[in-house]
Amino acid sequence: MSKSVIQVPVVEIREVAEGIFRLTISAPEWSRTARAGQFVNIQIPQRNDLLWRRPFSVHSVDPVRGTLDILFAVAGRGSAALSEHKAGDSLNVLGLLGNCFTWTADLQEIIIAAGGLGIAPFILLLQQLENWPGKKTLFLGFRSSRQACCMQQLGALGAEMVLTTEDGSLGHRGLITTPLDDYLASLDKNGKRMLFLCGPTPMMRAVRELTQKYDIPAQVTVENRMACGFGACVGCPVELAQPREDGQTYMLACKDGPVFPLQEIVFND
Ligand SMILES: Cc1cc2nc3c(=O)[nH]c(=O)nc-3n(C[C@H](O)[C@H](O)[C@H](O)COP(=O)(O)OP(=O)(O)OC[C@H]3O[C@@H](n4cnc5c(N)ncnc54)[C@H](O)[C@@H]3O)c2cc1C
Ligand code: FES
Repeated sequence: MSKSVIQVPVVEIREVAEGIFRLTISAPEWSRTARAGQFVNIQIPQRNDLLWRRPFSVHSVDPVRGTLDILFAVAGRGSAALSEHKAGDSLNVLGLLGNCFTWTADLQEIIIAAGGLGIAPFILLLQQLENWPGKKTLFLGFRSSRQACCMQQLGALGAEMVLTTEDGSLGHRGLITTPLDDYLASLDKNGKRMLFLCGPTPMMRAVRELTQKYDIPAQVTVENRMACGFGACVGCPVELAQPREDGQTYMLACKDGPVFPLQEIVFND
């Protein structure tokens, strides 16, 4: 898939939960070709102090309107500056970057585990799976209802959903890994399933243990710090659990990922 730098108009920007924004840009070609897991690298305008672009997963697309959304939290200077943009502003965006989640036709079920902003790439995944005949089950955890987002979109996308918040303000109280553990334990061992994961590092570690315990293949999208976004600066190494045949012990999150087989990588932070 070829990448390009495009100057795009902001169509809409909206705070959808506390400190969480949905940014819609006009990008007709990308709205047709983006695949879940891919990301765009956005230059923060008029900020000479912010040298590097900031990477964000493609969140959802609307090929009819020719738009693409990202969902982002204000984490620091770049995302704070991005949140202040208005409809009609122009952004310089590099995309589409990275690989994507993959699945085979013989799967019976896709299980999605998302923690907080880890939901970002999965709306597009569910859009891609809209006419897929298998079962789609989403385990989604937030810290509290104040950070909960995407409920309306999820309602329309046909996945069975289990929702938790740590403070019990929405869905079940606790961590999402508890109902996920119960669910995986209840499954027939012969079914063909794949689990897709995105979330904070402690959650990714916990889910990896569960997928090992229940022998479920899984893919994870990582959110390393990045700079160039396409393999030129070697600034986003991901450690491999086992060296490759050529002796390589690291891969690059931006070029070889950001989606990796969950058992093949090590979480270092
Ligand atoms: C492939 C990819 C997809 C991503 N998708 C999304 C997304 O859909 N939505 C979203 O909100 N964020 C996403 N991120 C993370 C996002 O890129 C960072 O939050 C953002 O770059 C922070 O920039 P900043 O200038 O606001 O923060 P900075 O001022 O640069 O840093 C502020 C704080 O955020 C931390 N931080 C910076 N970059 C990252 C990072 N990559 N991961 C975790 N912590 C970081 C810093 O350590 C620091 O504590 C993604 C990252 C990658 C690599
Ligand atoms: S960000 Fe430059 S190589 Fe990955």
